[in-house]
Formats: sequence, C-alpha cells, structure tokens
Amino acid sequence: MTTMLETRELSKSFTLKRGSLARATDALGWSRPGAGQVYAVNDVSLAVAAGEVLGLVGESGCGKSTVGRMIAGLLPPTRGTLHFEGADISAPSVDHHLNIQMVFQNPYAALNPRQRVDQVIGEAAVYHGLVARADAPAFVAALLRQVGLDPSYASRYPHQFSGGQRQRIAIARALALDPKFIVCDEAVSALDVSVQAQILNLFMDLRASKGLTYLFISHNLAVVEHIADRVAIMYLGRIVELADTRSVFARANHPYTQALIADAPRLDANVVEHRPIQGELPSPLNPPSGCTFHPRCPRAMARCAAEPPALREIASGHWSACHLNGDVTPIHSLSTHHDHLN
Ligand SMILES: Nc1ncnc2c1ncn2[C@@H]1O[C@H](COP(=O)(O)OP(=O)(O)O)[C@@H](O)[C@H]1O
Ligand code: SF4
Ligand SMILES: [Mg+2]
Repeated sequence: MTTMLETRELSKSFTLKRGSLARATDALGWSRPGAGQVYAVNDVSLAVAAGEVLGLVGESGCGKSTVGRMIAGLLPPTRGTLHFEGADISAPSVDHHLNIQMVFQNPYAALNPRQRVDQVIGEAAVYHGLVARADAPAFVAALLRQVGLDPSYASRYPHQFSGGQRQRIAIARALALDPKFIVCDEAVSALDVSVQAQILNLFMDLRASKGLTYLFISHNLAVVEHIADRVAIMYLGRIVELADTRSVFARANHPYTQALIADAPRLDANVVEHRPIQGELPSPLNPPSGCTFHPRCPRAMARCAAEPPALREIASGHWSACHLNGDVTPIHSLSTHHDHLN
C-alpha cells in the first residue's frame, strides 16, 4: 500500500484576542508562558494509504475540524509537516487545494444561495482551467448523474433541494476539481438517519468508481464504523488510539475509546450532538497535566496526572496512548533490540 497523505507532529494553536488586563500582565511579564493559547491540535502523526478511508472520531471540540482544515490547505499548521504523495505541502498552495477537497456538515451554509446549481458545481473547475466554459453544461450534467441527481436540476437554486440533495450538490462541487483525497467533516451529521445511509453509500460508490481516499471525520463512532478501514480516536487535540476498525470495536484499548463505544448512539437513534462521557471536555486553553483524560478516566492512577503517556504500538497496527499498557517496547523495534543483545 502506498501512503497518499502523511502528517508528522501536525499541531495548531490559536492565539486568543486578549483583554486589556491580560495585555497589561503580559507587558509586565507576569503571564505564564503559553497563556491565551488554544492548543487545538497537538502532534498528530497519521498516514493514510491510497484508497483508504481513515475515520477521525472524538467529542465536539477535540480538534477534528482543525486537523481536516490543515490537511485541506485551509489553515496553516503552527508546527509539524504535511506530505501528499511524497511532496511537502505544509504551506497551503493552489495545487494542494485541487487535490484535496473538503465536504462540510452543513451543505446549506456551504452553498451560495444566489448561485444556480450549475454555477455552484462548475464555476471553480472553469476558473482553474479544468474544463472549457463551453463544455461546462455537459461537465455539470455528468457530475449530477454521478452523485445521483437529475441533470435537469442544474438550473435550480440550493433552497429548492432537501438536505440530502444539497449534500449531493456539495459532493459534486468537490468532485468537479478532480480531487484524489476528500476530507468529509461531519458530512452526514446533520442529515436524517435514512438519508445518512444514502450519502454514506454514495461516498463508498465514489471511492470504488474514482479510487478516492477519505479522511472521514465524525463525532459519532457508529457512523464511522460503516465506512472506515481504520479509525483514529482524538482526545483534546491528540490521537489516543489508532487501529483498524474491527480492532477498535472488538478490542478497544484506551479507556476513552472504551467509554465512547459503551455509550455510542446507534445509527438509528439520530443523535446529532452527543456527550458520551461523564464530565465536560476540559478546555484546550488549560489542558490537564499528564494524560489529559485523567480527570475523567475511571482507571486513572497516580502516574496519570504526572506523566503524559506516549502513543505506542500495542499489537501490530494497533496504537494506544495509556499507562495501563506499561512501558511496552514498540513491536516494530523488537528486531533491532535483539540485534543489540546478540
Ligand atoms: N479560529 C479559532 N480560534 C480560536 N480557537 C479555535 C479556532 N478554531 C477552533 N478553535 C478551538 O480549537 C478547538 C478544536 O476545535 P475544532 O477543531 O473545531 O474541534 P472539533 O471539530 O473536534 O469539534 C476548540 O477548543 C475550538 O474552540
Ligand atoms: S493514562 Fe491513565 S488516565 Fe490516561 S487513559 Fe490511561 S489509565 Fe486513564
Ligand atoms: Mg468539527
């Protein structure tokens, strides 16, 4: 399998606008270093293989969209690197935008209400020279068919469609730029359950017919189970567990993942926003010490508040960041270890 997209220690912090008191304490050197920084994403290292669907799951506010926006070139990273097909794309560029498209949660907000569907779908492709203006109508008609809509809809406006149809239009707009990689950010979260299944099926059909690769972001583990090959679980800006989808559900290692699974809403429950774990998600402005999950973790030990756990490979391809695993030697380095002993 070839790696299509790779992030290394990808990180993003936002500087909050500060009030006058905070600015005064800053000027006097009284603020602690890092005050006013929102650590939204910390050291996220992920590799997505060509043709793979990687799910990215975690509670609202854990940093999923920020990861997605950095990957799609909509937000520059504070630290770390991004590689696409081997090329460094850490600094956003136009080529980058064309290869990696994003589909958002709310298709209505994402579509300009004053543009007709043919403009919504075709305009960027014409602008970037991917299609001649004279060929745009046929181009748009083909895209509408690909996403399961009647080509005669091209002259209508977004408000004339249902939520599911609007999401199909947003998908057609993304496909128009002939991307290799699509970041789906809560792309079905606002839709009715029956419509969610249809749009998930469309994503899978497009993966097969166009060889697409996806980062599939959702706060709902149950949605991701149906589409992802592997799942990365995020907590407060960090990946805490990463494994193939079957292992995540059958052998979740991290207490946070276990809690997410125990309390996951079924796909048929149609819960749009869900707080699965006891207690609030701490603020990324002032994250807890050690393992940032420790204030909410039912299995926390003294060590957990003092020392951050490293993300380790606990079984082949299965990574978890928890002190309960002890200081296991990462499997991939065992052979080199033996070489040293001999
Ligand atoms: N532009 C921004 N300025 C300041 N804080 C931000 C900004 N964008 C996101 N954040 C903060 O970063 C954290 C992660 O946000 P986000 O990536 O949207 O999470 P998710 O998509 O998982 O809900 C949140 O605490 C959010 O408030
Ligand atoms: S490191 Fe400690 S607090 Fe963190 S998940 Fe593991 S047991 Fe819980
Ligand atoms: Mg989000």
